[in-house]
Amino acid sequence: MAIEIKTVGIIGAGQMGSGIAHVCAMAGLDVRLNDRDTAKIYSGLATIDGNLARQVSKGTITDEQRRSGVSRILAAESYDDLAACDLVIEAATEDEATKRQIFTALCPSLKPDALVATNTSSISITRLAAATDRPERFIGIHFMNPVPVMQLVELIRGIATADPTYVSAKAFIAKLGKISTMSEDFPAFIVNRILLPMINEAIYTLYEGVGSVEAIDTAMKLGANHPMGPLQLADFIGLDTCLSVMQVLYEGLADSKYRPCPLLVKYVEAGWLGRKTKRGFYDYRGETPVPTR
Ligand SMILES: NC(=O)c1ccc[n+]([C@@H]2O[C@H](COP(=O)([O-])OP(=O)(O)OC[C@H]3O[C@@H](n4cnc5c(N)ncnc54)[C@H](O)[C@@H]3O)[C@@H](O)[C@H]2O)c1
Repeated sequence: MAIEIKTVGIIGAGQMGSGIAHVCAMAGLDVRLNDRDTAKIYSGLATIDGNLARQVSKGTITDEQRRSGVSRILAAESYDDLAACDLVIEAATEDEATKRQIFTALCPSLKPDALVATNTSSISITRLAAATDRPERFIGIHFMNPVPVMQLVELIRGIATADPTYVSAKAFIAKLGKISTMSEDFPAFIVNRILLPMINEAIYTLYEGVGSVEAIDTAMKLGANHPMGPLQLADFIGLDTCLSVMQVLYEGLADSKYRPCPLLVKYVEAGWLGRKTKRGFYDYRGETPVPTR
């Protein structure tokens, strides 16, 4: 039986988890936000409040809507705090071992009929489902960044995902006012299968000295009509996430055309992960982003 989602648990309070919490709360759902790092839960809550305050100042929502939205999101410091959830969405770091450990530890705390989803950008839904006690109630729900702005959500069924799980997830996305598409369970699904090799190629173009950061981003903005340059977009996504997706494509499809650019590897090794660490292809420590190459 399909179920109506009223209470949503979110694991991982980074840029995606807090964005998902934001849109769920504004759609009238109750939200429980968890992170391995308790401080991240509270910084996530502060970020959501700040983003809603910006919407109030732009006049897109009222202050009353902001206050009632914020009041619907509670901190969940342990998995037991997710016991009442109808759906739990995992939005932790893009690393298969991390996600598998979360699912194994999480499931004993959940209601038997609760659905479990992952916001992974690339990892096999079928393999992640196998780390749960309910593969038939498991599905990929891939939100885009920034969640409050982007319309699309990719739904990905694992081999065991049951029809009612898919129907419930589709209705949940519609309730958030977003559009869903269905992708088969292949590495990186549709959006990132196409987008990330383009970003990786832009990094190769920089690595080989074909152009500077500014030249590459300007070329793609003005020459291909992209709203944002590929290097700016990479910083926005997070370079660690970009590298993980390329590794999943490279290993999952066994094709050398997906080889991650060595410069991307080096940036991640340096801890230069883009906007979230204030340094990536641009330096964000000043008032305006400055290209680093
Ligand atoms: N950044 C994007 O553009 C984007 C878009 C779509 C999907 N995603 C996916 O969303 C997920 C999260 O990405 P993000 O950009 O929010 O990353 P992020 O680095 O901003 O946040 C990840 C959060 O996960 C937490 N975390 C790590 N291990 C955990 C654990 N064991 N238990 C609980 N929390 C844990 C971290 O403390 C951090 O707060 C990834 O799977 C990523 O691929 C990212």
